[in-house]
Amino acid sequence: THPIIFDTDPGVDDAQAIAIALAHPEIELLGMTTTYGNVDVSTATHNALLLAQLADKSIPVAQGAAAPLVKPRHPAPAHIHGANGLGDIELPSLQGQAESRSAAQFIVDTVNARPGEVSLVAVGPLGNLAAALQLDPMLVDKVKQVVVMGGSIREGGNVTPVAEANIFNDPHAAARVLTAGWPLVMVGLDVTHRCVLSPSHMARIEAGQGKLGKVLAGSYAFYRDFYQEMLGIDGCCPHDSCALAWLVRPELFTTHRGHLNVATEGEAEGQTIFAPENRGYIEPRWSQTPLADVCLGVDGAAVVEWITETL
Ligand code: BDR
Ligand code: CA
Repeated sequence: THPIIFDTDPGVDDAQAIAIALAHPEIELLGMTTTYGNVDVSTATHNALLLAQLADKSIPVAQGAAAPLVKPRHPAPAHIHGANGLGDIELPSLQGQAESRSAAQFIVDTVNARPGEVSLVAVGPLGNLAAALQLDPMLVDKVKQVVVMGGSIREGGNVTPVAEANIFNDPHAAARVLTAGWPLVMVGLDVTHRCVLSPSHMARIEAGQGKLGKVLAGSYAFYRDFYQEMLGIDGCCPHDSCALAWLVRPELFTTHRGHLNVATEGEAEGQTIFAPENRGYIEPRWSQTPLADVCLGVDGAAVVEWITETL
């Protein structure tokens, strides 16, 4: 099994991934850490707690970043995930509450309790992982791996022509996390845009889930309009679930190894830059950043089937 901390900004596609993390027998969800991104951080925390509650699971949730490290926050447009992050559907009332520890402290404590075992799966802006690294730089040797949903190498961006939302929302944090030198895999738009969760998949998911099914299906219906407009497809890209698919079924992806970096300023702000290993660039800094793995190919139909079956 895979013990994980799930770092998230729920978010419609985050909610689908949380449901997977709660349900999959090979995933041990040690806790969730929350960040602003699709919604403000208190809404993100509320949604993470509520989704666990609807699955009748008691999972620690620790609240984290409320804004980017350096640049001002760009609030997410409410037409993508809804003002409440879950497609503006009516939600049941919440009973639980968040940990008193910060997200970064929760990450540090949890990884140190099980050195070498815990994977960090991050599917929002990367401020919490950057803050955890600052608290304990030795985390780079103590996590099992870091799986990041974010970035784009060949696919182009979804916020700007070159930048994907999670990286664009905090490029400075992303630069620290992607160049830290821990075992890291990037699951970006290159693969998540090849995965389309269709209305018939969602009908199967709704039928198989209890109270959580209503929330997943209702929020999906709202998110679907955005994909129709943006990509002209009938269905949604389950971005954040793809990070969990990589964790459990890596054979469904093709990865490439190289040096990864992030543009933090100017027109390219938030762009992820990938330098395949052993290319011998004349400018040495491109071969000096640590190596990481980047997903560039995927069996999208198999990933979507895995998501649907899991749920
Ligand atoms: C990412 O941005 C967010 O809107 C989604 O939840 C996902 O994590 C996709 O670019
Ligand atoms: Ca997300």
